Amino acid sequence: MDIETISFTAFDDQRPGTSGLRKPVAHFARTHYTESFLQAILTTLGAAGKTIVVGGDGRYHNDRAITLLIRMAAAQGVKRLIVGENGLFSTPAASHIIRCYHADYGIILSASHNPGGPRGDFGIKCNLDAGEPAPESTTEALFATSKILREYRIADCEVPPLTPGSYRIGAMTMDVIDSTRDYTELMARLFDFAAIRAWLAKHPIFFDAMHAVTGPYAKVVFNERLGLPQRYLLNCLPRADFGGGHPDPQPSYAQDLENALKAHPQVVMGCASDGDGDRNLIMGRAGFVNPCDSLAIIADHHARIPCLQSLRGIGRSMPTSRAVDTVAAAKGLICYETPTGWKFFANLLDAGRIQLCGEESFGTGGGHVREKDGIWAILCWLNLLAASGKTPDEIQKDHWNTYGRHHFNRFDFSGLEKTCAQRMLEDFEATLDKRIGQTIEGLTITAAGQFRYRDPTSGEKSPGQGIQICFGRQARIICRLSGTDAHGTTLRLYCEYWQQPDAAEPALAGTTYTLAGLAQGMMDLNRACARTQPDNIV
Ligand code: G1P
Ligand code: ZN
Repeated sequence: MDIETISFTAFDDQRPGTSGLRKPVAHFARTHYTESFLQAILTTLGAAGKTIVVGGDGRYHNDRAITLLIRMAAAQGVKRLIVGENGLFSTPAASHIIRCYHADYGIILSASHNPGGPRGDFGIKCNLDAGEPAPESTTEALFATSKILREYRIADCEVPPLTPGSYRIGAMTMDVIDSTRDYTELMARLFDFAAIRAWLAKHPIFFDAMHAVTGPYAKVVFNERLGLPQRYLLNCLPRADFGGGHPDPQPSYAQDLENALKAHPQVVMGCASDGDGDRNLIMGRAGFVNPCDSLAIIADHHARIPCLQSLRGIGRSMPTSRAVDTVAAAKGLICYETPTGWKFFANLLDAGRIQLCGEESFGTGGGHVREKDGIWAILCWLNLLAASGKTPDEIQKDHWNTYGRHHFNRFDFSGLEKTCAQRMLEDFEATLDKRIGQTIEGLTITAAGQFRYRDPTSGEKSPGQGIQICFGRQARIICRLSGTDAHGTTLRLYCEYWQQPDAAEPALAGTTYTLAGLAQGMMDLNRACARTQPDNIV
């Protein structure tokens, strides 16, 4: 086997964001660009003697990146590569495979819910040996390495087909494994499949894989193991361009699911997952369940879900509404507030401080892997529906009656100029102290400032995680810049308003919009960034 050493000029833009390095496909396709980031990983996390898991969500450039990795790994002394069949692993399945095969780390090829295809986005992220997303110390080390690389080594070899089997490339073993088997077995251990099967026989649900990675998983879990007829599984063939769609399970992109529910009035639930299978959408007939409420509801009903029976602690990202806090307070559970991004939950899960966690961005997960997990979240719902005999709409209504309703919306302003947006938030932050105590629209600001986090297990500090303005327990405004943008900069504005169970007022859903208008005025968005309207509201 010939090994070539290729020289190149280092790139200066390979700093991973909230969830890996994410760029347009055309950017990754630049000469040596993908190779450079793969080399940064192999150099930083080690190659010689290592076992590495690799797979992705099947998007355009997935195959090319895997082929490059196989050849580079073979050239650099990797002991064993574990590759998903056809190059596919959902993000939660990859996390599980790293754990159960005792791999040193994993490389997941995905830009999550961003559109795919030649004009879409691509991404590469790393997960460490507990299956957890690489922490900031590691991603910063990857970035530092990428800036000083001058060459990479690559084998000139035939690459075996990505069909199950064990292959040898020089001294390296490459095992291509069934992408779904180990994950399905894990799910069967965590949930009461018999109860879910019996419930589904009477109440079929729709599942939409959005032409992304969960198609093969849904076929095995929902159809083969739980008996849901194939016709209820939508868009289950993974495609490199996700069928031209946007594999983001927010109501605005889940049109096929909505249409299916409309056409079948007897179906009480629809659900979907995103490009790499870590996000989830739960729809009742009355509309979707806000992910913040979904987390709170799962926490409230945890005793009905086998893998959550010994729930003691819950994690939620700071922008996620405080619906789950009200449940935690009522049930004597501990609730941790972390910065945005799943990596901040990993240490809490490892330390056994939390067993359930979630984010407003349609992410829910537990301690079974170290990623959020779309199919797992859907199984939580199915298990609690099977055990309670209620519909999602009834469960949600009961929840609001008991705990009140945390109205929640996220307003995204994308395509902003980065320096303008950063300066605007700095200027806004400088005004916060003097705002404390002010009353606006009948709400008094009780606290305002940057959210700073100190990991309670490692002591690692993460300052500057977003501006938070609290109006007691009643309302909250949060703003931060996205860390997953592949182009431009997105300002995220999150607004929460708690309508208490005994509140005399009628429905107050519009209050979050009023809060968003207030926040826009306070930060002077129009003057600073020339924007008056969000381009996406969730
Ligand atoms: C977004 C979400 C965040 C999630 C991340 C990865 O990050 O807001 O909750 O963990 O995607 O899926 P952001 O673009 O806001 O940095
Ligand atoms: Zn995702």
